[in-house]
Amino acid sequence: MSSSFGTLFRINTFGESHCKAVGVVIDGCPPGFSLSPEDIQPQLSRRRPGQSALSTDRQEADQVIILSGTENGKTLGTPIALQVANKDQRPKDYGSMQDIPRPSHADYTYQMKYGIRASSGGGRASARETIGTVASGAIADLILKEKFNIDIVAWVSSVGEIDSNPIDTNVITRSDVDTTMIRCPDHAAAAKMEQLVAELKEIGDSVGGIVSCVIRNVPVGLGEPTFEKLEAKLAQAMLAIPATKGFEIGSGFAGTKMRGSKHNDPFTQKNGQGSHLGTTTNNSGGVQGGISNGEPIELRIAFKPPATISLPQKTVDFSGNAAILEAKGRHDPCVVARAVPIVESMAALVILDMLLRQEARKAIQF
Ligand SMILES: Cc1cc2nc3c(=O)[nH]c(=O)nc-3n(C[C@H](O)[C@H](O)[C@H](O)COP(=O)(O)O)c2cc1C
Repeated sequence: MSSSFGTLFRINTFGESHCKAVGVVIDGCPPGFSLSPEDIQPQLSRRRPGQSALSTDRQEADQVIILSGTENGKTLGTPIALQVANKDQRPKDYGSMQDIPRPSHADYTYQMKYGIRASSGGGRASARETIGTVASGAIADLILKEKFNIDIVAWVSSVGEIDSNPIDTNVITRSDVDTTMIRCPDHAAAAKMEQLVAELKEIGDSVGGIVSCVIRNVPVGLGEPTFEKLEAKLAQAMLAIPATKGFEIGSGFAGTKMRGSKHNDPFTQKNGQGSHLGTTTNNSGGVQGGISNGEPIELRIAFKPPATISLPQKTVDFSGNAAILEAKGRHDPCVVARAVPIVESMAALVILDMLLRQEARKAIQF
């Protein structure tokens, strides 16, 4: 089913942009873990619309409610249902877009596939759907941190043509990332990015960007060879985020320009005699043969300029008649700052699920 993800830590998300509520049911969360809404809320608040002058003006508090699966602040091992109300809908804003599919949005493809579509707000294609992945990902993230010391940090590394200087992925923290509104820890680059996004918001245009992510302290051995390689699962998870257009791990596309003699990651004895080997470089991005090698996992995800812009666009309506669309409503001029916690959450969901699968495999050894 297309709204489900994961094998042992399995999520099912639900809800459209303008229905009563969105959320998620998590099956397979281990019992006895301390969990309250306050543990989940910080990541939801980093994702929420209206959080800064650079995002959409839709105002949602996105307060999470735990409906089931916990008692006295501990998980029971039973399905955990999480819900967030939709409050600030303005369906009238979508009146002009009823007959004209928004170029590069999901209106045309949903209509053709189902013969019907949510009348406003983008339905399931709206970024509100990511509330379910962020809420469940926040729980996966906490379990990974508390039980396995695994650390996941994402940040904005480019907006349009503006690139951040290289970031030290060994030390970067979420607090560093949150020191700028655009969530780029290079303050000089961030200032330019913020200015560009503010200008585009003003004129009703939009711009894309790149979110980078590091996953530290991943043990060796996560990932299932062939079709469920760790990098394949991470790519699937990241490309499931709306507006994504590209995924890179390690050297990524730049690696194609290198010689094997420079690209190979030489092994080294890192943590004393008898322990696992490390590598002196990390062009593999922490994954070899689809299996984690113990080095940091390094990803980059490309986000396109959001499709709904208020500048006039020449297009046609559903009947093929020429039309000019000047989209109404409140929209993000650039999604990357809000995408940071979504990328972290998707990474956490994949890593925890793969970790549980590896632990299950290790449970019986002959
Ligand atoms: C955090 C976030 C916010 C978004 N906000 C908007 C928006 O305000 N307007 C818009 O047209 N698209 C927005 N999008 C992207 C659309 O949801 C997405 O482009 C659309 O569903 C079409 O899907 P596709 O781009 O993956 O093909 C956002 C995406 C993310 C991740």
